[in-house]
Amino acid sequence: MNPLLGRLHPYPFERLRELTRGITPNPALAPIGLGIGEPKHATPELIKRALSDNLAGLASYPATAGEPRLREACAAWVRRRYGVALDAATQVLPVVGSREALFALAQTVIDPTRPGATVVCPNPFYQIYEGAALLAGAQPHYANSDPTRNFAVDWASVPAEVWARTQLLYVCSPGNPTGAVMPLSEWRTLFELSDRHGFVIASDECYSEIYFRDEPPLGSLEAALRLGRTDFRRLVALTSLSKRSNVPGMRSGFVAGDAAILKSFLLYRTYHGSAMSPVVQAASVAAWGDEEHVVDNRDLYRAKFAQVTPLLAGVMDVALPDAGFYLWAGVPGGDDVAFALRLLAQYNVAVLPGSLLARESGGVNPGAGRIRMALVAGVGECLEAAQRIVSFVQAR
Ligand SMILES: Cc1ncc(COP(=O)(O)O)c(C=O)c1O
Repeated sequence: MNPLLGRLHPYPFERLRELTRGITPNPALAPIGLGIGEPKHATPELIKRALSDNLAGLASYPATAGEPRLREACAAWVRRRYGVALDAATQVLPVVGSREALFALAQTVIDPTRPGATVVCPNPFYQIYEGAALLAGAQPHYANSDPTRNFAVDWASVPAEVWARTQLLYVCSPGNPTGAVMPLSEWRTLFELSDRHGFVIASDECYSEIYFRDEPPLGSLEAALRLGRTDFRRLVALTSLSKRSNVPGMRSGFVAGDAAILKSFLLYRTYHGSAMSPVVQAASVAAWGDEEHVVDNRDLYRAKFAQVTPLLAGVMDVALPDAGFYLWAGVPGGDDVAFALRLLAQYNVAVLPGSLLARESGGVNPGAGRIRMALVAGVGECLEAAQRIVSFVQAR
């Protein structure tokens, strides 16, 4: 067996299952799950239709690079959304969801034979970053998010000697679980660090289309262009249709950026065998080409967050995030695990304890004392969950 497998941490949901074993959720109330961040809004008809209209594609092997029309549809979306012109032939590559791409990119860019190979990632974070680093033979370094600065990651806390051996930096904007969007000034800092130390930046942007401010979240390619980095050197942006278009089961996304990195990534992917089904490619072309369903989807989240957030803000430390579909809330009493377990037992509402989404770094676990609530269900169910949480806190 690959000994690196032994270094992987159990997934947060596995740990939660372990913690909740032996708990009987209140049987008088219907269960409501706010734990898992799986989109639940309806899949748009145009995507379902494109899938069923293109079943003939099942009869052929797809190319790993994807069909030119898919790459062009992705590039056209980047141009409309971010005002960035990409060469669809060299700067765009389809991937089977951003999760596999986040993982595979680390296997492509990390050289484990260089001493102290390090991957820097935010903390709390999406656990794939850590697993990707460990299986690539690198050591993760966790940079804590700062609750006093809208949960911006404290990149300045990373010691110079850590940056010096860093080969890959994961960033997540809008962030999971914090919802924080990185401003241009933060990108400038990270690009300067990347230039100085030679590391690759993998920018996870899969929540970019669900936002609550007037201005859409700044993307990494857009930030690079604004700062005069027209070749997107050492930058790879990753995005997906899962959240934008409510198709987490379709497994479709793309990466874009540095052409030299994408060339090596394509080579890796050819052997890895992660080509996208022609049927999914056809549906993805339809999805990237339509913005109406994205606006409708965003409106649903906006209406839901506008109703739920003030209710919860009356009893806990929570505010409307910049973007994403999570509330990242401080719990009264400060014990996130105890809060989650009692809430489940008494009110049959499942939430994710924040400490399971982070590691201790610099003597603190920046997820401790917080819970993550995914507002993915319908507005009625989310409101019912919020009302139960209010009753739970008030009864304490
Ligand atoms: C931060 C983050 N990145 C990436 C993903 C992966 O999404 P997908 O593989 O569906 O594109 C998720 C899914 O929950 C996520 O939360």
